Amino acid sequence: MKPKIFVTRLLPKPAMEKLEEIFEIRVNPHDRVLTKPEIIDGTKWCDILLCLLSDTIDRDIIVCNPNLKGIVNYAVGYNNIDIGTASKLKIPVTNTPGVLTNATADLAWSLIFSVARRTPESDTFMRTGNFTGWSPMLLLGGDITGKTLGIIGAGRIGTAVAKRSIGFNMKVLYNDKNRTIENEIQAEQTSLEDLLKRSDFVSIHVPLLPETRHLISDKELKLMRQSAYLINTSRGPVVDEKALVKALKEKWIAGAGLDVYENEPEMVEGLKDCQNAVLLPHLGSATNETRTNMGLICADNAAAIWEGKRPPQIVNPEIYS
Ligand code: DGY
Repeated sequence: MKPKIFVTRLLPKPAMEKLEEIFEIRVNPHDRVLTKPEIIDGTKWCDILLCLLSDTIDRDIIVCNPNLKGIVNYAVGYNNIDIGTASKLKIPVTNTPGVLTNATADLAWSLIFSVARRTPESDTFMRTGNFTGWSPMLLLGGDITGKTLGIIGAGRIGTAVAKRSIGFNMKVLYNDKNRTIENEIQAEQTSLEDLLKRSDFVSIHVPLLPETRHLISDKELKLMRQSAYLINTSRGPVVDEKALVKALKEKWIAGAGLDVYENEPEMVEGLKDCQNAVLLPHLGSATNETRTNMGLICADNAAAIWEGKRPPQIVNPEIYS
């Protein structure tokens, strides 16, 4: 008899095929996020739960199956899982770091370009038949080349975003208490306050932790330059979305490029009316190659857990000590 894995949303085919080699699979039959009772039902059935960043895996879910062997998250961020409870019960939790670094860094840059050069707005302008001819003042944006890029959180993704700036001859500032990146790229480490004051583009790459919730709120937005842009591809609650809407409406800053939201998939009132915001539906890792690789890592993690080995991408290694 094969071990059982409950997959909360259909994954790319190569990942499903790899899982199928080892596991009996039960997969969410719907094209939507499952409800909590549906996740509980699947968790009670399985040996291993394979979930998404949009599934809140709280204590109720973790304890509903006393034989649960592992929780495999199809994401690098794992703020959706109650790690404390999992660790207390010695349940390994895994994630998918590394494989989505480039895709997410590319998307951060796509937000930098789109918000600075107003490409979504310009596209709508064309499609709605408003283009009547070249004009010196039509849809002017901000320069990127030679400007200052501020990176908040210089982990894998933050560093990859910083490295992409070399071609644009930018100055790079970064804020990270735990890492230095000067061995990888010419950059200046500085305080959050100084970074916000001096950057033309501020790009956020911290995980969501109690200490990073609303890291960027009124005070921080007011420190930014009026000509500066805020980019967030990390987690929505790192930015106080209400404060951001105020900043965008009252022009404390020039614009924002967002891939993540405080209460996904909802947006705070007023955000969609801000023409100076470019809004994407959490697409950081959304390339065919990356989503497949994330699934293959999940399969490796699940297989290791089932074989009683330490999985390659463990997020709560303390359970083994
Ligand atoms: C992650 O893996 O945490 C990303 O947000 C997915 O796009």
